[in-house]
Amino acid sequence: MEHARITTRAAWKGSEVDYRSEMMHRFSAGEVAEIDAALRHCGERDIPEITPETFPLPGMGATMRRLRDELLDGTGVVLLRGFPRERYTADEMARVYVGLGAHLGEPIAQSWQGQLLGSVIDISDVVEKVRGYNAGGGQHFHIDGSACDIVSLMCLRAAKSGGASRIVSVAAVHNQLLDTRPDLLDVLYRGYYHRNHEMDAKYSLFPPQSAEKIPVFTQTDGRITCVIDTGCLRYAVHYGGVKLTDEEIAAYDELQRISRSEEFFLDMNFEEGDIQFLNNRSIMHGRTNFEDHDEVARRRHLLRLWLRVPDWPDRLQHQIFMNEADCRHWAGRRTPFMDMPSQYLASLMRQQEERKRADTVMPKQAPSQRYRSAADWKPETELVTS
Ligand SMILES: [Fe+2]
Repeated sequence: MEHARITTRAAWKGSEVDYRSEMMHRFSAGEVAEIDAALRHCGERDIPEITPETFPLPGMGATMRRLRDELLDGTGVVLLRGFPRERYTADEMARVYVGLGAHLGEPIAQSWQGQLLGSVIDISDVVEKVRGYNAGGGQHFHIDGSACDIVSLMCLRAAKSGGASRIVSVAAVHNQLLDTRPDLLDVLYRGYYHRNHEMDAKYSLFPPQSAEKIPVFTQTDGRITCVIDTGCLRYAVHYGGVKLTDEEIAAYDELQRISRSEEFFLDMNFEEGDIQFLNNRSIMHGRTNFEDHDEVARRRHLLRLWLRVPDWPDRLQHQIFMNEADCRHWAGRRTPFMDMPSQYLASLMRQQEERKRADTVMPKQAPSQRYRSAADWKPETELVTS
């Protein structure tokens, strides 16, 4: 198969980029004042009611349009810095975050539980069977659900140490494969079977497993779109009877090997109040390991948004696994304010206290720091998903 090289600004190497000068927008005093006024206008609204109308930013319209263009046709990465975290409560920060996000896209539900605002925090000693974003440790490079066009994080509280966001340009990794292992690139264009996480599948409108392989890469109009979710691939092997071929294992491993080489990835350190937006079609993400506090209320806590951008080009149907209809379905399970940080943390602190009283605190579950080859994804092995 012939695959075109991506020659746009989407193809960057972490070792050649200074994100502070090329990917960062620092808020001006005027912008902070405008956002503050929008927050006052928004009041105590719940997340679904925070829209460009209820969180108006008339003076920042051109800036937000430029940032959205940068996500689609620039580097695919935008970091917003300089919003004064210390002046606001966690819930006010959440409203600021959702308000800014609403000017880029529409928030969609992130799991069967229906949360529109996710909390990325290690609670694996408090809640049973958590996923990677609720555990510690590093993560393999992946793309979040394909219904999401922009994946975003806001840093509410930084880790004691570590916990950088590690990202890589899909286009750059693709080009490297084209140069060095075109045989494996072919395998990635054919893709892998995906299977849903157990509870997402239970509340899904669709079968748990893809009927066909989902291509890792597709290209349309000079833009590349990537779908790769280690968890979904591993679930297909564990529960869906999928056997990976040697070349499929080699292709997955090579994709990860290039992504985690110092030449390619970029580490972005989060300061409290930072907001990162990533094109979830063309940027893979993971994270580095981190050291955390014991009390839930002091732990590293990032808020996460998944945004759909209706006026971006449609994805190719055969590359969609997580479906937008499921996200709408899941959103119906959301209860008011459940994902606001104050309510979310209060519930967690109650659970942590109960576990301490009953002496049922669990050991923290950290996804392995050691890279695991796809050859290790045997049904009998421990299942740690992204
Ligand atoms: Fe993720």
